Amino acid sequence: MKQADYIERHRRYWDDLADHYQRTTWITTDDFHYGPQIPGENELGLLPPLQPGDTALELGCGAAQNSIWLARQGIVCTAADVSAGQLRHARIRARDEGLHIRFLRLPIEHLARRIRDTFDLVHSSHALEFVTDPANCIAQMAACLKPGGTLMISTVHPLFNGEWVEQVTDDDSSSRMGLFLESYFSPPDDVRRRGGRITVISRAYPVSAWFNWLRAAGLEVVRLEEPPAVPEKVTAPYTSRAWADHEGQLHAIPSTLILLARRNTSESSSSSSSK
Ligand SMILES: C[S@@+](CC[C@H](N)C(=O)[O-])C[C@H]1O[C@@H](n2cnc3c(N)ncnc32)[C@H](O)[C@@H]1O
Repeated sequence: MKQADYIERHRRYWDDLADHYQRTTWITTDDFHYGPQIPGENELGLLPPLQPGDTALELGCGAAQNSIWLARQGIVCTAADVSAGQLRHARIRARDEGLHIRFLRLPIEHLARRIRDTFDLVHSSHALEFVTDPANCIAQMAACLKPGGTLMISTVHPLFNGEWVEQVTDDDSSSRMGLFLESYFSPPDDVRRRGGRITVISRAYPVSAWFNWLRAAGLEVVRLEEPPAVPEKVTAPYTSRAWADHEGQLHAIPSTLILLARRNTSESSSSSSSK
């Protein structure tokens, strides 16, 4: 499938899902979230220190809760998503808070075509699993960093794309219970269908692949985290009934992989500054 068709399929999926997703998923704006059922920035403390006036670019922003959290602290935020439906929710939230955020309808794959500025922070929570070529997207994101700037990516953990099997055998052995993953090195795609037709594909990759893509983009990886789910009865900054129902299983494996990488301060940037 051509990249343009792939992007278009995902755009349609997220446009169709946007209202339902925003109604059924609870994401706070009082914390910076990294993924479903895991602690946020208030507990993990992963982001670099930012000052009012610093700049941030969010990719695959959804309703832009993370940009809203940053904008409240005086960070100058740009937020982009492929889906107009998702961006509509983001615009309403920002307007209701009286925050100015620059919103763009933009697939991550086309970043270099549209964004010439560079930023102190480029961040993307759970969107890169939907792109066609993560290595290329990471290279484009890295090019948007100021020297000394930080790239934060959170994405689906490769262990999470296995098959959950709960089958009690006659002899009551538990050998067929738990998570079955055919290959860690090539985790199965999470293919979502409607009426037999594929609507979206979420892809996971080994941890080393993400690490190497960041290094290939000229960045230094400074943090790599696989946080466990929040304890039961604790409300995560990003949750839904469906996620909370899996709480027990989510304590066994990481569901989200978080990486922070920095662009060397001594590098000279060919792009213009966003400040
Ligand atoms: C699981 S949601 C996460 C949204 C938000 N980052 C959050 O954490 O709530 C995935 C988001 O990625 C967006 N997305 C999917 N493919 C994309 C692409 N190729 N370029 C930009 N955004 C994309 C979707 O429209 C959707 O808003």
